[in-house]
Amino acid sequence: MTRVFSGIQPTGDLHIGNYLGAIRNWSRMQHETDAIFCVVDLHAITVPKTPGEVGAASLRLSQLLMAAGLDPAVCTLFVQSHVREHTECAWLMECSVSFGELSRMTQFKDKSDQHKDFISGGLFTYPALQAADILLYDTDEVPVGDDQRQHIEITRDIAERFNSRYGDTFVLPKAVVPKAAARVMDLQQPTNKMSKSLDSPKGTVNLLDEPKQIAKKIRSAVTDNDGEVSFDFTEKPGVSNLLSILGAATDRDPASLAGDYEQYGQLKVDAADAVVALLEPFQARFRELEADPGETARLLKVGAEKARETAAVTLARAKANIGFLAD
Ligand code: TRP
Repeated sequence: MTRVFSGIQPTGDLHIGNYLGAIRNWSRMQHETDAIFCVVDLHAITVPKTPGEVGAASLRLSQLLMAAGLDPAVCTLFVQSHVREHTECAWLMECSVSFGELSRMTQFKDKSDQHKDFISGGLFTYPALQAADILLYDTDEVPVGDDQRQHIEITRDIAERFNSRYGDTFVLPKAVVPKAAARVMDLQQPTNKMSKSLDSPKGTVNLLDEPKQIAKKIRSAVTDNDGEVSFDFTEKPGVSNLLSILGAATDRDPASLAGDYEQYGQLKVDAADAVVALLEPFQARFRELEADPGETARLLKVGAEKARETAAVTLARAKANIGFLAD
């Protein structure tokens, strides 16, 4: 069976862009593949955090993911720092990647611009830890957004270099950017992706927003003045985004939905209703999980144990192939 691995940082709440663009797809994939999903808390501390912040965010994100359909009985869901093989393997990865390669990462350039006052060494070597995440599980496919393609490419380069230095050790993974994923843009700035880091509260529909808030945000979405409903992200980003959201929420093709509308008002009402209906069962499930953090912790522990079974074998193989003195 195809082994799939993906990771998500415990920073900020999830929004409908995360859900319709990625996580809904993950919950479908878990039934067709051997899927492993990781809350990457070690990656989160590449930028400064206050004590306790990361742990609380990891618990909450795990609950959001479970509420969104990731079933710990079907996939493997765990927290990165619970499987210490990740940090140990990351060192092997760091020694298999060059300063030049790491310097070319666009995510590093963007994030170091955002955190100019303190650019941690970890922010620079971040892709080595990500390579460890992926390679420890003999991953075939990594479902990610376009912004992560470069990190999967460097992971392949690291795996190839390690294999050529020390002998066949790691499986070369490939990035899969799901075709079915919806394109969800910020409601206020529809040429930008809806994003946790954009800091655009009015343009972002969070999965835990109240129905009223959702309706208000969608009603206030930026459109244009020509009054024509058509699906064309270049000419009409705002309207196309609404069609895209409505299409994703109702499992219909956004381009063909355009013909159903004469004016923006009704499109907004329908899009809001569809998102509220989509999120209702999700929110109910989240409240249940939130009320029982002990149960989430137990499920995550089981996930970490399952993950470690594979990770430990791969790490031992890598160390044996390097030929460290046996302990
Ligand atoms: N870098 C990814 C992001 O910012 C998160 C991540 C960490 C990841 N490790 C991973 C994604 C392994 C895929 C596979 O979104």
